[in-house]
Amino acid sequence: MLNSSVARKLFMALSGLFLIIFLTQHLLINLTSLISSDLFNTISHFMGTNPIVQYILQPILILGVFFHFVMGFVLEIKNSRARVKSYAKANLGVGSSWASRNMIISGVVILSFLFIHFYDFWVHEMNVKYVQGDMSGKNLEGNFRYWEELNAKFHQNIIIVVAYCFSFIALGLHLVHGFSSSIQSVGVGSKRFKIIKTISFLYSIIVPLGFSIIAIYHYLY
Ligand code: HEM
Repeated sequence: MLNSSVARKLFMALSGLFLIIFLTQHLLINLTSLISSDLFNTISHFMGTNPIVQYILQPILILGVFFHFVMGFVLEIKNSRARVKSYAKANLGVGSSWASRNMIISGVVILSFLFIHFYDFWVHEMNVKYVQGDMSGKNLEGNFRYWEELNAKFHQNIIIVVAYCFSFIALGLHLVHGFSSSIQSVGVGSKRFKIIKTISFLYSIIVPLGFSIIAIYHYLY
């Protein structure tokens, strides 16, 4: 069962939908950094020190990311073998969008982004909290450090802002196909195809745009 192509597509869809939930909350939390540094600091400290988030949700998330990428590569290899066998290559592009045919390309850009992003934020957090053992969330002056550290990453750093925004375009292309396709794979989409396509389209514009605004805001302020 786990080895069948239907099962593989289903697990790919479920892990994708799980990552969409993460992405939505990640965007909402990071958007608070534009409204109030105190609010962003309070939420970040809660998320960064809450045992359920740290020891249950975070490992599940990292496993989910890992699973989605490995499964994506497996599906791509199986699909390209099937295409060669059935000579379907000649029909490539007929009735399918660029985004849907190039999920592996947008996926690899997002994966590369995640390596940089983990190095930028996550590795630093793990180091301060679990290697140095400082769970206070405070800097030397005794103030919360989260907003200040986020701001310092992007402030006047055009290379990181451009690299991030480029990755967010790839994220949008990945989501525009991935969102609607995963809903269809879990069997909800067939009757409401049009509305799901519209929601998927709007989501894949709003989320990358929101992340880009955060990066640009911290570059400027
Ligand atoms: C400007 C945009 C973004 C900002 C400012 C941002 C900020 C952060 C911060 C501060 C952390 C560290 C959280 C912690 O461990 O305490 C983090 C972790 C993480 N980010 Fe982002 N992020 C952005 C975009 C993204 C995007 C687009 C993705 C996915 C494609 C992503 C995926 C992750 C993941 C998987 C983690 C590790 C899990 C976690 O600790 O929450 N981030 N991000």
